[in-house]
Amino acid sequence: MSGSRQRLHSEIYIGLMSGTSLDGIDAALVDFRGRRRLLGTLFAPYPRRLKAALLALQVPSRNELHRASLVGIRLSILYAGVVNRLLQRSGVGSYRVRAIGCHGQTVRHAPGFRYTMQLGSPAVLAERAGIPVVADFRSADIAVGGQGAPLVPAFHAAVFRNARVHRVIVNLGGIANLTDLPRRGPVTGFDTGPGNILLDAWVRYRLGRDFDRSGAIASRGQPLESLLDDLLADSYFRRPPPKSTGRDHFNLAWLRRFAVARRRTEDVQATLSELSARTIGRAIARFCPGAREVYLCGGGARNSDLVRRITRALPDGTAVASTAKLGIHPDWVEAIAFAWLAQRRLRNETGSLPEVTGAEKARVLGAIYAA
Ligand SMILES: Nc1ncnc2c1ncn2[C@@H]1O[C@H](COP(=O)(O)OP(=O)(O)OP(=O)(O)O)[C@@H](O)[C@H]1O
Ligand SMILES: [Mg+2]
Repeated sequence: MSGSRQRLHSEIYIGLMSGTSLDGIDAALVDFRGRRRLLGTLFAPYPRRLKAALLALQVPSRNELHRASLVGIRLSILYAGVVNRLLQRSGVGSYRVRAIGCHGQTVRHAPGFRYTMQLGSPAVLAERAGIPVVADFRSADIAVGGQGAPLVPAFHAAVFRNARVHRVIVNLGGIANLTDLPRRGPVTGFDTGPGNILLDAWVRYRLGRDFDRSGAIASRGQPLESLLDDLLADSYFRRPPPKSTGRDHFNLAWLRRFAVARRRTEDVQATLSELSARTIGRAIARFCPGAREVYLCGGGARNSDLVRRITRALPDGTAVASTAKLGIHPDWVEAIAFAWLAQRRLRNETGSLPEVTGAEKARVLGAIYAA
């Protein structure tokens, strides 16, 4: 069978996720035929200079269109390198991969202005990898009045829902988002607010570190109750869903408005950890009443201080575990979700849930770039 014929018979997809934390690229190689099988995974941290360039592009600055385009190409070359390494390691030929679902790197998320922007040139990636690429997953939902986010709840529903128990999935990325999976009835979900983003920003600002490993710094501090009250007063937390947010709103500049300069590093860190935990806890209590099980995924699931605080912030009797208990390691849920969304696109099936994003209707998500 020729390479292109083999591809058409394959249900192997690659998901590439690079989230708001700007930590790097998560890649998952998944075979969806029969029982879903994870054939390989890879995490590639962003090189320092690329991360700095991406951070600089999060705010308006000089000649940004040109700079964004150049960074987009650099990103795609990096994505292609990740794909090739992943395939090599897993012993899978590129001709066996049906498509790559590539989220791209968000530099603006402004559904209120009817746009969202992810960098990365899918054409360059398709060419270099020799595999079709599905990209720009969010625009179609925004075009019908949705938030364009979160997009993972449809995947969470497909793989984690159980008719006998009310579950909630919480992704602890830069931004935290939840999916409510009641035993029956509509699936909902939204961004609760900051996950790791402020924790990362604060230790970077104070200590020059990328993140607070296991939450060790936060666990040495005492939450500052009056600061916490001020942070919790942000109107985003009061807004009812559908809602989504990003670095555009929650960032170091936002935090520095709250007179944190003279506070101890570890106390502010503990306060930020408490902020993420309480906003998640409150969101679950208010919008997912009766949930019995909460499953965590994303990089924040490795932050034991944060996990402890989330557990405390949840209604009594709620069981907390990582998605590993449901068969998917917490590091790879999002990347697998974008492989799955690429499959939905190729099948012309919808990928968005209007109850989640607030759109008028469900849409087939993503644009296809041929190899
Ligand atoms: N060992 C660890 N201890 C504490 N925090 C960690 C650890 N490992 C990762 N993290 C946190 O997780 C973050 C990365 O998480 P992840 O990749 O899930 O987020 P993301 O890239 O923003 O993704 P998305 O926006 O799609 O959810 C890091 O920036 C860091 O804050
Ligand atoms: Mg990441």
